Amino acid sequence: MAKTQKEFACQSCGAVYRKWQGKCDSCNEWNTIEETAGVVSGTPKGLSGKKGRKVELVSLNSPHEEQARLSTGIGEFDRALGGGIVKGSATLIGGDPGIGKSTLLLQAMASLASRGEDVIYISGEEATAQIQMRAQRLGLADSPMKLGAETNLRDILTTLNEGPAPAAVVIDSIQTIFGDSVESAPGTVTQVRLCSHELISFAKRSGSAVFIVGHVTKDGQIAGPRVLEHMVDTVLYFEGDRGHQFRILRAVKNRFGGTDEIGVFEMTGLGLSEVKNPSALFLADRNEREPGSCVFAGIEGSRPVLVEIQALVSQSSAANPRRAVVGWDSSRLSMILAVLDARAGLGLSNCDVYLNVAGGLRVTEPAADLAVATALISSLAEVPLPPETVVFGEVSLSGDVRAVSQADARLKEAEKLGFVRALMPKARKTGKQNITQDIVSRLAEIVDRFMPS
Ligand code: TYD
Ligand code: MG
Repeated sequence: MAKTQKEFACQSCGAVYRKWQGKCDSCNEWNTIEETAGVVSGTPKGLSGKKGRKVELVSLNSPHEEQARLSTGIGEFDRALGGGIVKGSATLIGGDPGIGKSTLLLQAMASLASRGEDVIYISGEEATAQIQMRAQRLGLADSPMKLGAETNLRDILTTLNEGPAPAAVVIDSIQTIFGDSVESAPGTVTQVRLCSHELISFAKRSGSAVFIVGHVTKDGQIAGPRVLEHMVDTVLYFEGDRGHQFRILRAVKNRFGGTDEIGVFEMTGLGLSEVKNPSALFLADRNEREPGSCVFAGIEGSRPVLVEIQALVSQSSAANPRRAVVGWDSSRLSMILAVLDARAGLGLSNCDVYLNVAGGLRVTEPAADLAVATALISSLAEVPLPPETVVFGEVSLSGDVRAVSQADARLKEAEKLGFVRALMPKARKTGKQNITQDIVSRLAEIVDRFMPS
């Protein structure tokens, strides 16, 4: 007989323990471990005795059905999904509360419904009248999208299973939905897992694309949608700084497309509007003749994006000088500072260093190393970069500047936006461009240019 056993799960990351403990070893959060509904453990006996159904095997190279994608009509949304909505897929849209997840899905799904597709939007957070009011304000009131306000999973599934399967279903948000077969409160790991499992099964069975909204909270109170990440096909995070109007929809996992693909939006009084040319927007308020400002030619997903990197280096009187970074990795900054110190003789150990990626974008590429280093050197020397210059390249611990991928695409984008010169490592191969390639092979060369001895 299989036995029911007590189980303890971290409400933040979903790690499971046999005993209660104060701190989760997996995500290092405190007081997030709670007893969850008992599970059946132990191997079921007699599995080898009874005969099962034979699984139908197909050969890899046999003809198969091409996955058709649905376009929502919102290009940036489709782009983040890898080129549109895949039938029968399950997608998690995560993000901070209030960042604009509901607004984004309302706009995308209303647009999909207007194109003749059957779309159902289930909200567990707002009443239908509230959503209708918002839709009206956003100019979407004519859309035939169907709305429902419900939190009970059983009722939701009954509704969805009735009639022909809709093209897309939105569940906003998973933390408000509960299944009555288990006793935990909505938002706990047990509930989030159960409800998601049922909704994902529905997607696979019916061919409807299911979008699950999940709030990410820093405190462990509400189950982080991280529990869900490995269950769904696609994970999109909606990020952005509340202080900025830019919002970025980033694919962090996608079974049907590339990851790191981003869709860029701007939050306006009339909802989210697409930003078709993010580079122009990110560079809009730039003051070119400012020391410490440097334009990085980056790649986000499949698209080149130019962003301004700002550095401020100032003498510090504190014993431990400050290091503050927004939009970049702080350990990567420490590395660049160490390389500048050891390989280029720039002592920055008694300086405060501030680094900011303008526009609220988060840069993760190592190709930004050279741009960061150049911004730091320019700020320290109080000399602005030559006008109309972009920078990219990876810096190694030895102080060498290494080639990066897609130099061609970076140069093309820079040229399109009127830049005439690129400070860059020797590229493996680039096409014909009018932009001047200013090759650097060592970080020390940049220091020599800004601070001739
Ligand atoms: P919402 O989509 O409700 O966020 P989430 O579902 O992620 O919790 O967005 C809420 C925020 O968006 C709110 O603070 C106001 C802002 N907003 C606008 O600035 N303009 C708009 O047209 C809308 C609908 C919302
Ligand atoms: Mg919402």
